[in-house]
Formats: sequence, structure tokens, C-alpha cells
Amino acid sequence: MTNERWWHRAVGYEIYVRSFADSSGNGVGDLRGAIAKLDHLVDLGIDLVWLTPFYPSPMADFGYDVSDYRGVDPLFGSIDDLDELIVEARSRALRVIIDVVPNHCSSDHPWFQSARRDPAGPHRDYFIWRDPAPGGGPPNNWVSYFGGPAWTLDPASGQYYLHLFLPEQPDLNWRSPAVAREFEDILRFWLDRGIDGFRIDVAHALVKDAELRSNPEVAPWDPAGDRWAQWDAFEHLHDVRQPDSLEIFASWRRIADEYGAMLLGETYVLTAAELASLLRGDGLHTGFWFTPMHMEWDAQEIRRSLREPLVAVSDPRRIGWVASSHDEERAPTRFGGGDIGRRRALALSTLLMGLPGLPFLFQGEELGLLDGVVPVERRADPVGKSRDGCRTPMPWEPGVSFGFSTNPDPWLPHGGRNDLDTVARQRAAPESWFHRYRALVAVRRAEPDLWGAALEWIEAGPTTIAYRRGRLEVAANVGEAPTSCGVAGSVLFSSSGRSGAVDVATTLAPAEALIVRRSDP
Ligand code: NOJ
Repeated sequence: MTNERWWHRAVGYEIYVRSFADSSGNGVGDLRGAIAKLDHLVDLGIDLVWLTPFYPSPMADFGYDVSDYRGVDPLFGSIDDLDELIVEARSRALRVIIDVVPNHCSSDHPWFQSARRDPAGPHRDYFIWRDPAPGGGPPNNWVSYFGGPAWTLDPASGQYYLHLFLPEQPDLNWRSPAVAREFEDILRFWLDRGIDGFRIDVAHALVKDAELRSNPEVAPWDPAGDRWAQWDAFEHLHDVRQPDSLEIFASWRRIADEYGAMLLGETYVLTAAELASLLRGDGLHTGFWFTPMHMEWDAQEIRRSLREPLVAVSDPRRIGWVASSHDEERAPTRFGGGDIGRRRALALSTLLMGLPGLPFLFQGEELGLLDGVVPVERRADPVGKSRDGCRTPMPWEPGVSFGFSTNPDPWLPHGGRNDLDTVARQRAAPESWFHRYRALVAVRRAEPDLWGAALEWIEAGPTTIAYRRGRLEVAANVGEAPTSCGVAGSVLFSSSGRSGAVDVATTLAPAEALIVRRSDP
């Protein structure tokens, strides 16, 4: 394909800054901690790092509630540390993208403080305010992603403000040209400092329906129920996925392209058609596809979640593939835990690594980490269904706090890790998860067919998922019983340490995966 951009060959890695590496000893990961660990990423074969928010924040949602879009929270370091991180990354040929959080800011942000204080002032329209419904109560039936109504009353003005997340995260009004201008300046501020692009939080929902119409209720809404059950009680016609967001991305794209930077959307939708509609035209370069983070270990579901976006999105290089993140249970935990969960996660990563698009690993995925076990009294996440388990600190080496911090009591407990989980132990053991992931990433980097060749699916039986890209073939057994692999050639990568050659009848154990090079021309 044409128009090759630097990220088309890249393998990305999410650093959840709070939990990656702590240089200060306060028990919270920080930028200098991340700098000290860049060599680990180079060794793993990563090209592109995504840093989660480091901005000044009251931390109601651990940094996704920004109170200054141009700074660094002292908890994470200083802007000089960020500059140094960019320099250090660049000297290792690593690109750095940062989270930008445009859907909402913190209720402590000066914009919201001013909007609240002065309903007639310039910042009121930065947010979405409405009078109560005629009989009282919220202006419409929208619910927050975190459960409960998406509206909170501001007693001083008697109006409600909208928040698709916590009340401490008021939604910005993207129909206000002033908001659009603010963010264009913010993007340039960071691009001028040398960052290589943005991961755009809540990219699927920036603009809301102009009339703020209620959504159709498709199941009884239980305000006390699980947050996803609450969300699914409505058909989200008017709160999210409004087509006007594409205009914002088009204006951001013009800016990003001036710098050769990438826009990667958190396009949180679960159908391929919705993803395709967010990736239309000259807007976001790339958007994450989330069903691999939600599906069961089920052949049909896995097959669908890989095939559908590749059909729907007109340039599949725009798809960002993820199996784990700081928002959901880690893949090995979701897929059954223990050794089987880990093997399944690696098999899925093998399938994702060979597809057109941009694969991302989440910190610790390369170690086969399960979720940490966080006791109820240590829970930190404000959201009902806890995201703490996937956010426990990264285990670097045996010893105090597994080398994450000199502080023996980090912000979240390690939650059941042992020395074998650590980077140091796994680096020293050739059969470790680290070495398998590293070998997988190395094949992706070394084989141009995995970036550029056309994709053809191979029909190889109900529980084998296999495809060809040029001279390479990728296969995984996603069933519960041994099955034939359906591919043939010399083994370039094996999730189980296999080497030599295979033919189509070679048996794959459950959750075993392979990449081979065909021998015929
Ligand atoms: C998505 C982020 O990944 C998540 O951690 C956050 O809570 C929400 N967006 C709201 O910003």
C-alpha cells in the first residue's frame, strides 16, 4: 500500500505512568522512572510509547481529570523531566505519544471554576449546562459511563452540567469554537516540545447532540446496577458517536500532519461499522479496536473480532490492536488465569501482531502478568467494577516493591506477584514469557510482509484461526483440543518454543500459535 507513515511498521507499548517505575520513592510511578526503563522497551523491540496522563490533576480519575493541559503534576515530575524523556526516547529511536483528554477536564480546572463562578462569563459555554427537566431532575436521561445520571446540579446557578464520567470530570462543549481553539493551541504546545502524537481519550464522544435529546431506553434502567448494565439500558443515539466529531479530527489532522505526528483515537465502540465511521476521511490516523479486550475465549468470537474491522475499515492500517490496557482485566486473567490464560493471551497477541494495523502491548503484557489481587480495603479506582487489578505496579526485579519503588508500600499493592513475574528473572530465563513476546515482536519488525502484504484468511478447521500475508502464515489454535495448524513452512515464531518446519497437518496444542515462512515461491 502507499502513503507509508512511520507508525505503519511500529509496535506500540502503553506506559501507565503511575504504575510503571517510581524514581522518587513516593510509591507512585513517574517520568524519571520511565526514563530509567526505556532500555527495557528497546530490548523488547518497541518503536512507540504511549504515556498515560501526567498533567496536573486532583486525580479523581488518576489523571484523566486534567486541571492544566500544559503542565506536569509534581507527583510525576516536571516538564523538564518530560523534555528529557523525549530526548532519551529519541536517542533510542523510540517515538512518544501522549494522552490528550479533550472530552472533559477536571472540575478544578480554571475553566470550570470560572464557568461555575460566573454564569455570564466567557467560560460558561465551555461546558454543557441545562435547566432541570420541567418536573425537576436532570435535563435528559443520559447516564455516565461510570454509572448513575450523567448530570450534576450546580446549586448556585440552579442548572445541571453534563459529565459522561465522574462529576469531577465535566464534559467540555465541543460545539463552542473557543474550546476548539484552546485544544488546537494545546496540541501545538506539545508538538512543539517534540512529542510524536496523541492518544485521544474518549475520541468517540466529543460532540454531543445539539438538542441534547434523550436516548431511547431499551431495557429498564437500574441506577443501582452494574455500570455497563446501566449503559446498555439505552441506545446511544444522541450522547456519543455524533458525526460532527469528524470535523474536529480533520482540524487536528491538519496540525498533526504539519509535524508528521500521529493521532490515535480511543475509539471506544464495539462494532466494526462504528469504528469505520470514526476512521473515515482525513481525521484520526488510527483508532483502537476494543472487542479483543472484551471477548470470551471462543473461536467464533475471536474470528469475528479479527475479521470484521479488517473488512469495514477501508485502510486497515488505521486499526490499533489491543488485548489489554489500564481499563480492563488483563488478557491472561480474562482468558482463564494461570498458565492457560497466559498461553491464550500470547496466542491472541500472535494473531494480532501479524495483522495490518498498529499492535500495542500494555506494560507487563510481555511478562504474561495476571491482574494483581487488590484487597477491598486497598481499592483505589472510583469506578464500581474495579480497574485496580490491571494497574498494580510493574514488577522489575526481586526485592523491595519488586524494584518498582524504594517504597515498600506503593499506591496499589503488587497483589500476589512473585520473583518469576519480574523483568530481571524473565530476562535471565530463555523460556520465559518475556523472551516469547520479544521473539514475537522481533518477527513483526523483521518481516516486511507483516506490514505490507495483502491478507488472505486460510480456512483450516473450526478452532484454527490462520491467515497468509505474502510469504508468511500465522496460525493459532483457539479451541480446547489439539487441531491441525493449516499452515506450512519454516517456523519463525512459536508460542511454545517449537522450531524447524511444519505442514498443514501438524498438530497445534490448545492455545498454541505459530508464524511460519512458506518454502514455495
Ligand atoms: C478512558 C481512559 O482510558 C480511562 O482510564 C478513563 O477513566 C476514561 N477514558 C475517562 O477519561
